[in-house]
Amino acid sequence: MEHYKVLALGFVSLILLLPSLWLVSANMEGDALHSLRTSLQDPNNVLQSWDPTLVNPCTWFHVTCNNDNSVVRVDLGHAALSGTLVPQLGLLKNLQYLELYSNNISGVIPSDLGNLTSLVSLDLYLNRFSGPIPDTLGKLSKLRFLRLNNNSLSGPIPMSLTNISSLQVLDLSNNHLSGVVPDNGSFSLFTPISFANNLDLCGPVIGRPCPGSPPFSPPPPFAPPC
Ligand SMILES: *[C@@H]1O[C@H](CO)[C@@H](O)[C@H](O)[C@H]1NC(C)=O
Ligand SMILES: *[C@@H]1O[C@H](CO)[C@@H](O)[C@H](O)[C@H]1NC(C)=O
Ligand SMILES: *[C@@H]1O[C@H](CO)[C@@H](O)[C@H](O)[C@H]1NC(C)=O
Ligand SMILES: *[C@@H]1O[C@H](CO)[C@@H](O)[C@H](O)[C@H]1NC(C)=O
Ligand SMILES: *[C@@H]1O[C@H](CO)[C@@H](O)[C@H](O)[C@H]1NC(C)=O
Repeated sequence: MEHYKVLALGFVSLILLLPSLWLVSANMEGDALHSLRTSLQDPNNVLQSWDPTLVNPCTWFHVTCNNDNSVVRVDLGHAALSGTLVPQLGLLKNLQYLELYSNNISGVIPSDLGNLTSLVSLDLYLNRFSGPIPDTLGKLSKLRFLRLNNNSLSGPIPMSLTNISSLQVLDLSNNHLSGVVPDNGSFSLFTPISFANNLDLCGPVIGRPCPGSPPFSPPPPFAPPC
C-alpha cells in the first residue's frame, strides 16, 4: 500500500514538473535574445515585440522558429541598430541564419558565435565591428555564407576557417585585416575579391609576398659594374 502511494506521488510530480522543464529550456532562447535587445539601441523600435514575459520568442517580429519552438532565424538587416552583440547569442543552438547586415553595430564579434553549430549564414557586413575574427568560427561546420565585409576588423584571418568545407561565399573585404591569406581547404575556392581593401594582407592568393618569405619569382642576379 505504502509503495503504491510513493510511486503514485512520484508519477504525479513528474507530470507536474515536465512542462516547467520544457518552459525553462524554451525561455532560455528568449532570454538570450532579450539580452541582445538590452544591449542594442533601436531608434526605429524594430524590437518592440520582443517581450521576455512570453513563453517563447517565436511570435516576436524578425525571429523565426522551427516546429519545436526553437529559434532558427534572426532577421535584422538594415534596421538602424547600434550598440554591441552579447555572448548569450551562442545559446541559440538551432540558429541557421543570423542576419545583422547594414546596421551600426560596434564592439567585437563574440567568440561564443562559434557555438552556433547549426549556422548556415552569418551576415555581419556593413557595421562597425572591430577586433579580431574569432578563431572559434572555424567550428561552424555547416556554414555556407560568411560575410563580414565593410567593418573595422583587424588581426589575421584565422586558419581554422579553412576547415569549413561547406563554405561557398566569403567576403572579408574592406576591413583592417593583416597577415597571410590561407589558400588551402575551403579557401582554395576564393579569389582576391573576397579579401580586397584590407590593411596588410599578403600571400599567393592576392599575389603579394609576405614579409620575410621568399618572393614568388627569384630576383634578378646582381651584376657588378665593370
Ligand atoms: C549609422 O549611423 C550614422 C550616424 O551616426 C548614420 O548616418 C548612418 O545612416 C547609419 N548607418 C546605418 C546603416 O544605419
Ligand atoms: C560556448 O562554448 C564555450 C566552449 O565550450 C563555452 O565556454 C561557452 O560558455 C559557450 N557559450 C555559450 C553562450 O554557451
Ligand atoms: C564598403 O566599403 C568600401 C570602401 O570603403 C566602399 O567603397 C563600398 O561602397 C562599401 N560598400 C557598401 C555596400 O557600402
Ligand atoms: C581543422 O580540423 C581538424 C580536425 O578537427 C583539427 O585537428 C585542426 O586543428 C583544425 N585546423 C585548424 C587550423 O583549426
Ligand atoms: C591549412 O593549412 C594550415 C597550415 O598552414 C593548417 O593548420 C590547416 O589545418 C589547413 N587546413 C586544412 C583544411 O587542411
